[in-house]
Amino acid sequence: MPLTLTRTDLIRSANFIGGAWSATPTARLAVTDPATGDVITEVPDSGAPEARAALDAAHNAFSAWRKVPAKQRAAIVKRWNDLVLAHQDDLGKLISLEQGKPLAEGKGEVAYAASYIEWFGEEATRMNGEVIPAPLPGRRMFALREPVGVVAAITPWNFPAAMIARKIAPALAAGCTVVCKPAEDTPLTSLALVLLAHEAGVPPGVLNIVTASREKTPEVVDVWLDDARVRKITFTGSTPVGKHLARRSADTLKKLSLELGGNAPFIVFDDADVDAAVEGFMAAKFRNGGQTCVCPNRVFVHRAVFDAFAAKLSARVGALKVGPASDPASQIGPMINDRAVEKIERHVQDAVAKGAKVLTGGKRLSELGATYYAPTVLAGADASMQCACEETFGPVAPLTVFDDEAEVIAAANDTPFGLAAYFYSQNVRRIWRVADALESGIVGINEGAISAEAAPFGGVKESGYGREGSTHGLEDYLHIKYVCQGQLD
Ligand code: SIN
Repeated sequence: MPLTLTRTDLIRSANFIGGAWSATPTARLAVTDPATGDVITEVPDSGAPEARAALDAAHNAFSAWRKVPAKQRAAIVKRWNDLVLAHQDDLGKLISLEQGKPLAEGKGEVAYAASYIEWFGEEATRMNGEVIPAPLPGRRMFALREPVGVVAAITPWNFPAAMIARKIAPALAAGCTVVCKPAEDTPLTSLALVLLAHEAGVPPGVLNIVTASREKTPEVVDVWLDDARVRKITFTGSTPVGKHLARRSADTLKKLSLELGGNAPFIVFDDADVDAAVEGFMAAKFRNGGQTCVCPNRVFVHRAVFDAFAAKLSARVGALKVGPASDPASQIGPMINDRAVEKIERHVQDAVAKGAKVLTGGKRLSELGATYYAPTVLAGADASMQCACEETFGPVAPLTVFDDEAEVIAAANDTPFGLAAYFYSQNVRRIWRVADALESGIVGINEGAISAEAAPFGGVKESGYGREGSTHGLEDYLHIKYVCQGQLD
C-alpha cells in the first residue's frame, strides 16, 4: 500500500517561527525513508540564527499566553487533539514513511500521541493552587502554580508524534511557550503536528519549531542552553546527551526533564504463566522493532521454565513478518538507519563470540534492504556481553537462566539505568517483594504494555528524572509561587 497522504500539505519543508513558515536557512537536510533510503523531502538545516529567532518569538509570546484563561488554553489544546485524530491516517502514514514502523503501529502512535494531548488539555483547568492555614494572625497564605516560562523541547526519532505530544501538550496547557528541535531523522511528523496546532488556534510565537541535522543540532541547542530566557529543557534521548544538557543548563539553573536510556530487565519466575509471559514479552519487546527506551533488553528466565519459555518465544519471534511499512502484513519494519543496524549486529556478534547461542534470527535481512535485521532470540546471555550493558535498541532478546529470586533481583539492578522493569509471577507475596526491590521508575507486573497518558513515565538512576504523562507530567512545567498577604486584622 503506497504511503500517500490525502492532505499533502501536511508535509512541510520549513521552520515554523512566530506563527509563520520560514524559508531560511537555505541549507537543507534530506529526510529519507529508512526502508529504501529514498529522499521524502528536505527541511531546513538550521543553526544559531534560527534558534535565536525561535527563542525571541517564544519569549515575546509568553507574557500574553500565560494570561490566557486556563479554560481557553484547554479548548485550544483539545481542538489540537481533535485535529490530530481527524488526520490519524495521514499522520500514521507520515510516521511510517519517515520512521519505518508498520502502518498499524504508525496509526496506533497517532492515537497514543492524541491521548496525551487530550489528557493535558483536560489537566489545564486543574492547575489548582493551595490555601495554607496561616501560623500567624492577620495573614492569608497561598501556593500558586505558574508556568515556568519558555520551554525547549528536544525530541527523539522513535516516537515522532507521541514524544512531541507529551512534551508540548503539557507545556501549552501550563501556559508555557515552546521552542522545539525534533529528531533529525523524523522532523516531518513534528512539523505536521505543529501545523495542526496552529490550525487549532495556538497563537503565533507560542509554538516554534526548528529542524537541524545531527551536525548542526549542537549549534541550535547551545543557543537555548546559554540563554537565561529558556527556563526548562525537556529531552528524550541518550544518557550522555542528557548529562551534557544538565551540565550546560547549570549556569542558568534551568528546570530539566530528562527521559534517558534504559536497560530494562524482564524476569520470568518459576511460578509465572509462561504463555502470558511470552505474550507480554512480545508486546514489550517488539513494538517499534525493539526501538523503544522501555523495551526489555535483558531477559532472565528461571531454570524450571527456561526451556518452555525459550521454545515458545523462539517460535513466536521466528514467525514475525519483517518488511516495509507499505506492506500491510509487516510486523517489524526497518531499523532507523545504518548505524542502528551496525550496533545490533555488533551486539549479536559479541554475544555469540562470548558463548551465546542463536535460537532464531541472528542476521541481517539484506534481501529486504540495508536496514533490516531479523528478530532474534539468544540463549546463554550473561552480564559480560555488550547486549547486557547497553541498550541494543533493536529486535534482539538475550535470555539468561537464573535459579534464585535474590540473585535475579541483584542482576536486574546491576546497571546504572532504571527506566522500566518487568516480571511475571503468580505469587502475590513475591509480586510486591520484587516490585519494591526493583530499582526502576516503571514496573510492569504480568503486563508488557505499560505506557499510558494517565501514568507517570520516567526513570531513576541514569535513566533521568522528571515524569511525563499523568498529573506529574504537568507539574514539570510549573513552579510554585508562595504568596503571603498580611495586615488583614
Ligand atoms: C520511548 O521509547 O521513549 C517511549 C516509549 C513509550 O512511550 O512507551
